[in-house]
Amino acid sequence: MNRPVMEGLRLNVPAYVHHPRLVEWVAQIAALTEAADVYWCDGSAAEYDRLCEQLVAAGTMMKLNPELRPGCFLARSDASDVARVEDRTFICSEKKEDAGPTNNWKAPAEMRALLQTGENALFKGAMKGRTLYVVPFSMGPLGSHISHIGVELTDSPYVVISMRTMTRMGKGALQVLGSTGEFVPCVHTVGAPLEAGQKDVAWPCNPTKYIVHYPETHEIWSYGSGYGGNALLGKKCFALRIASKMGRDQGWLAEHMLILGVTNPAGKKYHVAAAFPSACGKTNFSMLVPPQGYEGWKVTTIGDDIAWIKPHADGRMYAINPEAGYFGVAPGTNEHTNPNCLNSLKRDTVFTNVALTDDGDVWWEGLTDTPPAHLIDWQGNDWTPAIAKEKGTKAAHPNSRFTVAATNNPVLDAQWDDPEGVAIDAFIFGGRRSTTVPLVTEARNWVEGVYMAATMGSETTAAMAGGNGTVRRDPFAMLPFTGYNMADYFQHWLSLGEKLASAGSKLPRIFCVNWFRKGTDGKFVWPGYGENMRVLEWMLGRIEGQAGGAENVFGTSPRFDDLRWEGLPFTRDQFATVIGIDKAAWQEELKLHAELFQQLEYHLPAELPATKARIEERLNA
Ligand code: OXD
Ligand code: MN
Repeated sequence: MNRPVMEGLRLNVPAYVHHPRLVEWVAQIAALTEAADVYWCDGSAAEYDRLCEQLVAAGTMMKLNPELRPGCFLARSDASDVARVEDRTFICSEKKEDAGPTNNWKAPAEMRALLQTGENALFKGAMKGRTLYVVPFSMGPLGSHISHIGVELTDSPYVVISMRTMTRMGKGALQVLGSTGEFVPCVHTVGAPLEAGQKDVAWPCNPTKYIVHYPETHEIWSYGSGYGGNALLGKKCFALRIASKMGRDQGWLAEHMLILGVTNPAGKKYHVAAAFPSACGKTNFSMLVPPQGYEGWKVTTIGDDIAWIKPHADGRMYAINPEAGYFGVAPGTNEHTNPNCLNSLKRDTVFTNVALTDDGDVWWEGLTDTPPAHLIDWQGNDWTPAIAKEKGTKAAHPNSRFTVAATNNPVLDAQWDDPEGVAIDAFIFGGRRSTTVPLVTEARNWVEGVYMAATMGSETTAAMAGGNGTVRRDPFAMLPFTGYNMADYFQHWLSLGEKLASAGSKLPRIFCVNWFRKGTDGKFVWPGYGENMRVLEWMLGRIEGQAGGAENVFGTSPRFDDLRWEGLPFTRDQFATVIGIDKAAWQEELKLHAELFQQLEYHLPAELPATKARIEERLNA
C-alpha cells in the first residue's frame, strides 16, 4: 500500500492497516491539526491499562480504592465542561430546510471555513503538542449487517479509553473495514494546543465549542469539549444524528431507545424498544427487576440508550444496540432504583464528576439515604452535609456519569451481541408528565402510534441546563438527536410502517407511557422502577390478544382489573389518578400539539393533523 509520508511527522501506520483512503485522511487531519504524534489504537487491554496510567499521571483521573472498586477510576472534568451542549450542536445540511426548525444550522461551506479552511480555522494547529489517536470502532456487533464502522481521530486519551468501553474498538473494526470499506469520519479535538514546553492541565478543553454534523457526507467534527456526547462521537453524533439520516436514506431507523428482552414464566421471550427523553430512567427500565408477584419472569438488557432497527426479509423489524457499554447518569442510582446497575459498577468502571469518599470509594446524591460525613466533591473541594445545607452544593454533579462495559451487567441479554439483532414486538414512548398523559395507552394503529410519539412532551428537570419543570416537546425523544428535518423524520416512520404493512408484515405495537403523574400532594403516585413490570405484562397481554382495556380519546388503556396487583398495595383511586383523561387538560394539551405542528409545518405529514382532528372530535363528542 502506498503510505503517505509527512514532513516532520511519522504517521506510524501499523502493518495490519490496509485502507489507503483511511491513511490518506489521517494524514490530512494530522497536517491540519499539526499533531505532535499519531497513534493507532488496537483496542487491547494492555493499551487501555497504559492509557489509564497515563491519565492518572496527568491528573485527569485517579485510581479508586482497589479493595472497594477494583479497576475503577474517578475523572474530574473542567467545571465548564459537564454536559452535552445542544446550543453548540449543528446540522450542516446544504439546505436549511433539511436540518429543519429544531436543529441549529449553518451552511456547510461557512462551517468548513470556520473549522477547517478559513485563515483562523479552529482545527488549524488545534492538536499542537498532543498525540492524535486513531480510534477505529464498530457501532454494533462486528460484521453484523446492521452495524456500521466509524473512525474517530481525537487528541483526548480519556476519549480513547471511553470509546474502548462504549464501542467495539480497535483492530477488529479495521478488519471489518478491509481495504475499501465505508466508515464515518469523526474528528475531535479538545481545542487546547500546547505550545513548546507548555504544561498541560488535568482536563483540557476550550470555552468555544462546536459539535458539527454534515449529514450529506456523513462527517462529524467536534471542537472544544472532552465530555460525553460531545466527545465520544460514536454515541449521539454518529449512532443518532448521522445514523438517523443514513436510516432515512436506506430504509431503517436509528432511535434514542433502550432495548430489553422480557421472558414470561412459560419461557416465551419478547423484545421491546422504548424511547424516553434524557434523564427519564432508560437505564433503570432496561435493567428492571421484576417485583414481588412476578417470580419466574425475567427482564434482560440489550441496550440502555440507542437502537438501530432494520426491517428483515421476514417483514419484522430487527434491532441491535450499536453500543457496547453504558454511559449513564450516576445520581439517583441506588439499590432500589437499579440494583443491577449498581452491581455493574463494582469493578472496571470510570466514574466522572461523582464525589470521592474518605476511603477512596465513590458517592453521589441518592446512592444512600444518609450521605457520608465527609466527601471530596466533584470539583475537588471538601464537602459535608453542613456545607451542602449552607451553600446548596451537590457532592456529585447532577450529570455525573459512569462508563462501564455492557458485559458487567448481571442481566445482560444472551442475544445482546447477536449480529442478527432481535425482532421487536413493541415500541414504547414516554415522557415525564406530572399531569395529562395516562400511565399507559396502546395506540389503535401505527399512524396513531406515530402521532403519540411525535407529540410527546417531557418536563425539563433542574438537572438539565435551563431545566425548570416546563413541558418541552421532545418528539420520539429525538429532539436533540435527529440529524435532519423532524417533519421528514415523522414521514419516514409513517412510510416505513406503510411499506411493511402493505407487504403483509406484522408491525410492532406502539404504546405511550407516563410513570410520572403526581397527586394533589405533589408526589409521584405510581411507584415506578420494578413495578413498571405490571405495565409491561399488560402490553404483552395486548400483543397476545389476552389483556383487556378500555378505549379513550387517545387509544386503549387498562382498567384497574386489567393489571395484576399481587404484591403491590395500589388502590382504585390511585389508579384513577394515573390513568385518567381530563378533558380540560387535553384541550390545553392539543393546543400544544398544534403549536408543534405549526413549528414543523414544512413537510409535515398530513396524517398527523388529521389524527389530531380525530382526537379532538372524540374529546368533544
Ligand atoms: C444521554 C442523553 O447521555 O440522552 O444518553 O443525554
Ligand atoms: Mn440518551
